[in-house]
Amino acid sequence: MTYENILVETQGKVGLIHLNRPKALNALNDQLMTELGQALVKFDADPEIGCIVLTGSDKAFAAGADIGGMAELSYMDVYKGDYITRNWEQIRSVRKPVIAAVAGFALGGGCELAMMCDFIIAADNAKFGQPEIKLGIIPGAGGTQRLPRAVSKSKAMDMCLTARMMDAVEAERAGLVSRVVPLERLLQEALEAAIVISSMSLPAVMMIKESVNRAYETTLAEGINYERRLFHSTFATEDQKEGMQAFLGKRLPVFKNI
Ligand code: CAA
Repeated sequence: MTYENILVETQGKVGLIHLNRPKALNALNDQLMTELGQALVKFDADPEIGCIVLTGSDKAFAAGADIGGMAELSYMDVYKGDYITRNWEQIRSVRKPVIAAVAGFALGGGCELAMMCDFIIAADNAKFGQPEIKLGIIPGAGGTQRLPRAVSKSKAMDMCLTARMMDAVEAERAGLVSRVVPLERLLQEALEAAIVISSMSLPAVMMIKESVNRAYETTLAEGINYERRLFHSTFATEDQKEGMQAFLGKRLPVFKNI
């Protein structure tokens, strides 16, 4: 498949997607989001792929939804066209882990896209923000919902209401990102994490993703029960036998993803 706004490659068992609209700081237009959804679905269905990395350029992960493409839209255009939801939510259906490797600006929809991923590794030059209020709009791809869950109500309010940017150090302190690394290490760090994940049992990987995400949708008691059911079900896999026998035999496990 050929894409115009993203670059797609595989590195071993890792699917790597680069957002690629450098002249517009990777502003997320309709076509880019459709292409991204297609690439994600393809990697998700590929049995050779165990983890996906999504990245941008050194200057911008993505500077938000494409303002030029939105400026003249009417209420009916966005409402009837299901604007944003239509092709932005594809990433939520992906069952394999998606790591966001963020350098430079991750603003508006760019920050929201990073937050849709399973975890964020940031370069030391990363800047996160929800500046929609400066455009007379509000975040439209989860900013007011995922940001408070990630960094607390107070910081989310501050970011969304003042439009100020958060640097990588503050983002790590606040819990938005899992690690901060020097810019030149970013992609390598994300790929290494993805390679580690890809070497694990894929059913266990997918269950962990499902179970952690469940924590955001349910009560603690329900979530614990849900986790317990999934935990029990791992004992129906060959990988559980292999993982435990390998530990007891003091050797590395060879998972078959079954
Ligand atoms: N949409 C369209 N084009 C954009 C863009 C965006 N979100 N962000 C940057 N660009 C374009 C600029 O128009 C410029 O294009 P030209 O060279 O053709 O003029 C090019 O990218 C480079 O940008 P700047 O010259 O502005 O670069 P800078 O380094 O001076 O500033 C910036 C960088 C601070 C990120 C600035 O570009 C900026 O503020 N961008 C807009 C950020 C924003 O408001 N994002 C939210 C969008 S709305 C949204 O995302 C809704 C939602 O919730 C889904």
